[in-house]
Amino acid sequence: MNLLKRLGCRRASVLGLLAATVLVTPGTATGAPDDVRAGTLGAQAAQSGRYFGAAVAAGKLGDGTYTGILDREFNSVTAENEMKWDATEPSRGSFTFSRADQIAQRAQARGQRLRGHTLVWHSQLPGWVNSIRDANTLRGVMNNHITTVMNRYKGRIHSWDVVNEAFADGGSGQMRGSVFRDVLGTGFVEQAFRTARSADPAAKLCYNDYNIENWSDAKTQGVYRMVRDFKSRGVPIDCVGLQAHFGAGGPPGSFQTTLSNFAALGVDVQITELDIAQAPPTAYANTVRACMNVARCTGITVWGIRDSDSWRSGENPLLFDRSGNKKPAYNATLTAMGGTPTTTPTRSGTPAGSNGATNAAALPGRYAWSSSGTLISPKSDATHNIAGIKDPTVVRYNGKYHVFASTAGSSGYNLVYLNFSDWSQAGSATHHYLDRSAIGKGYRAAPQVFYYAPQRLWYLVYQTGNASYSTNPDISNPNGWSAPRHFYSSMPDIIKQNIGDGHWVDMWVICDSANCYLFSSDDNGHLYRSQTTVGQFPNGFTNTVIAARDSKYAMFEASNVYKVQGSNQYLLLVEAIGSDGRRYFRSWTSNSLAGSWTQLAASESNPFARANNVSFPSGSWTRDISHGEMIRAGHDQTLTIPACRLQYLYQGLNPSAGGNYDLLPWRLGLLTQTNSTC
Ligand code: XIL
Repeated sequence: MNLLKRLGCRRASVLGLLAATVLVTPGTATGAPDDVRAGTLGAQAAQSGRYFGAAVAAGKLGDGTYTGILDREFNSVTAENEMKWDATEPSRGSFTFSRADQIAQRAQARGQRLRGHTLVWHSQLPGWVNSIRDANTLRGVMNNHITTVMNRYKGRIHSWDVVNEAFADGGSGQMRGSVFRDVLGTGFVEQAFRTARSADPAAKLCYNDYNIENWSDAKTQGVYRMVRDFKSRGVPIDCVGLQAHFGAGGPPGSFQTTLSNFAALGVDVQITELDIAQAPPTAYANTVRACMNVARCTGITVWGIRDSDSWRSGENPLLFDRSGNKKPAYNATLTAMGGTPTTTPTRSGTPAGSNGATNAAALPGRYAWSSSGTLISPKSDATHNIAGIKDPTVVRYNGKYHVFASTAGSSGYNLVYLNFSDWSQAGSATHHYLDRSAIGKGYRAAPQVFYYAPQRLWYLVYQTGNASYSTNPDISNPNGWSAPRHFYSSMPDIIKQNIGDGHWVDMWVICDSANCYLFSSDDNGHLYRSQTTVGQFPNGFTNTVIAARDSKYAMFEASNVYKVQGSNQYLLLVEAIGSDGRRYFRSWTSNSLAGSWTQLAASESNPFARANNVSFPSGSWTRDISHGEMIRAGHDQTLTIPACRLQYLYQGLNPSAGGNYDLLPWRLGLLTQTNSTC
């Protein structure tokens, strides 16, 4: 937001606010709002910020019943065999990724997350590795394998099983014999995790095993000691995968204790390969409930879709029968996550006989928030005399929040960067002024940051009068940003024709699997959208259209667009100026980034975020809820946000401040949703 000289806007705001919203939707029909029930496994898991995944076989992707269930029910995918060593490096140094790519690309195209399975495992290991006897050779081969495979999918895999099944069954609690242990010693596990961290710092690194679900088992204790040791010595490990291949009795009574005890070491836990002989509904429910009861249990994967797809197919251990019908264990699983099983298809196009609900919209229609006090204030220095810090953008990456914001004051506009590990430290973080990088001095404002996974680069999008961007391979290096480049040669004609006396502001990029979209506002009631392909980005933005319109102050500026995790929904937020002259946010949803936007919470009495649905700890330090950013679930160009317990970093202002817009004392605070039902 905030081109210079926007005096008076905050007062002149009453006109037109009560006018009905009219949204322009080129080329799309306006349908009824989506069903808001979460009636599928993925959408229901997403309500608590979790994923629900399935192991997928590339060879079955041509089977429509299989893919129908996969796409309807699951929001995470593990390659059942295609990323294993024998599949990816069948002979030394010669890598084959075609089948793994098929799974990865298909999942990405549908917004499903990817688990990586597995890098170092004694099984499904090609003979040439098994016959290595020299430690240096094996170490080199192992590191090269980890690095090459992780690099291939860098930035696209949420969790990697770095080492699989290294511990022995039975009472020893020790590692099993394998070429890795026998030639390299037990230190191979540590070596593998260290190599993995450098290869893809964004992926969670997991140790994965079976028969570690019962707390008192020697094998569980052995793995626990290893993870505790890694954490105490700073060896990188982020999660423990419990395979959960259960007999008909289901999980042991201590299963939840085991999950909690691992989590207490400071790692996530995930149920990675769930299947249960004969699939008793109670056994499934108990397993799922244990995960739901442990905050750091972040997701569940079942090892296949239909019984006929299972590696244990003789035991019928999965959630769908051979014809693809839901089994009783399916309803038990959905119910254990708090979902509602349904028997009526709710949308045409739902596969026949599936008893399926839609991949439902997970966002509620009303919002309530509590706000922090002021968390981030400007820090002037010898060359920066700053009145306000504003327009924050934020990602969480590598255990830190990375915040970029505009600063404004008598010395003009600039961008600033800070990072910190939790909000209590936000106020004391160092502010790095980006005019010291190649971004340079001059008007630069309203940043947006994301990782563009296809290019493995961070992008900072901002306004300079044009829509500009800089890139950086390392988000934590404030000096690493490239000089500004423009997305457009000049302002697109449609904007020139509609901008009136407004300003072209608040450029925002979001991509789906095929296209990237650039949204912008004009302080005159229009939201614009241009598009290019994922392959061409950052070039080729064309076809600029009016994506939405309303009266000037009802659709003013500072728009954000997000993908809602685990649903087929996108969320649009636009800042408006209310009848009281104060800033607030309205919201819309759509099934497509290029589609029509349907009102969600979009009025002054039912706003997305406005002073009237925000409670403050001790007196309101602001009456404006202005330009900011949602805390995202990930950090890439899909801008995925969780469906639950939303958080929004925003700019607020001492209510008695006034005068020159560019000298207003904006500060940053955090909203946390208080009416989340998940
Ligand atoms: C299994 C696959 O499901 C089979 O298709 C394959 O023949 C053997 O491997 N633990 C694991 C998984 O970590 O990789 C295994 O998957 C099942 C046990």
